[in-house]
Amino acid sequence: MATAATPSSSDERSRVIALGIESTAHTFGVAVVSDKPPYILSDARGHYRPSKGGILPREVAQYFSQVAGSVVREALSKAGVSMDDVDLIAVALGPGMGPALRIGATVARALSSKYSKPLYSVNHGVAHIEIARFLTGLRDPLVIYVSGGTTTIASYLEGRYRVFGETLDIALGNLQDTFAREIGIAPPYIVGGRHVIDICAEGGRFIEELPYVVKGQDVSYSGLLTAAVRLVKKGWRRADVCYTLREIAYSSVVEVAERGLAHTGKKEVVLTGGVAASKLLNEKVEAMTKSHNARFKPIPPKYAGDNGVMIALTGILAFKSGVPPIPPEDAIIRQRWRLDRVDIPWYPMILGD
Ligand code: FE2
Repeated sequence: MATAATPSSSDERSRVIALGIESTAHTFGVAVVSDKPPYILSDARGHYRPSKGGILPREVAQYFSQVAGSVVREALSKAGVSMDDVDLIAVALGPGMGPALRIGATVARALSSKYSKPLYSVNHGVAHIEIARFLTGLRDPLVIYVSGGTTTIASYLEGRYRVFGETLDIALGNLQDTFAREIGIAPPYIVGGRHVIDICAEGGRFIEELPYVVKGQDVSYSGLLTAAVRLVKKGWRRADVCYTLREIAYSSVVEVAERGLAHTGKKEVVLTGGVAASKLLNEKVEAMTKSHNARFKPIPPKYAGDNGVMIALTGILAFKSGVPPIPPEDAIIRQRWRLDRVDIPWYPMILGD
């Protein structure tokens, strides 16, 4: 297999254009991003939505392989570019579901080889942070990254994003979705732009029966999930259980974030990941941040979830800071790739400066 071309041929050009490919979970996203305004040239997404039950990796992969070609074409045509105009390809190689990741990696390898474009490997978690920094303009924040598969408090220190707290078991988004499914109010998980837990919690009040677990710097949600499902099955008022589950889940992650803020001494806080769109979580983080005289900004909801833009953006940052591209044959997926294993040489640089 041919190795990727070096990016030197595009160095003299005035702008850099990246094609980003995201396929770690339920979204097959492809976007075209430039290092010059208006930056985001296109953002095409195909969402896998199960008709019942949870997400089955094999079914996701099947859906991704069906839509991959059309999503790539849509991203290019909406951006008004062809593959010839693209300077680099960036692909999320982890962490995520193996069968889903393999579709994105295969598409990226094929495009890189066919069009001789340099290929950049991107960590999905790092990309969630970079797009949050880019869109909020916060330069050096404490990051609260909450999604279906991740609950992590991270911040940059000495060359990498370091983890200052995380979940010991299931992630915040997974807790909400699994609970909703178990008590029979999902799927769909989002109705009218709101999570079904938020709808269920209306009119609810706090009950004492559910466990609040913070161990050291970490949160734990699996005991909360089991206890909450048990209460509903025993006939407790559903609104009260939804309300309390959400209160405990959000308050514990904000408590851990507060410790991270005190420990790092950072003056900015950003909220990113799929659960970042939650209004209540935003209110809780804002209140905590204010009490520490820090600035808080959430990522715009449109980019809170998975998308190709964040992958392309991170690829551009890597490219511009001299990170070498990888040969297509080395684009191997890494299902458990932690974000604190990635060097971040571009940290001082934010596009648009
Ligand atoms: Fe994500």
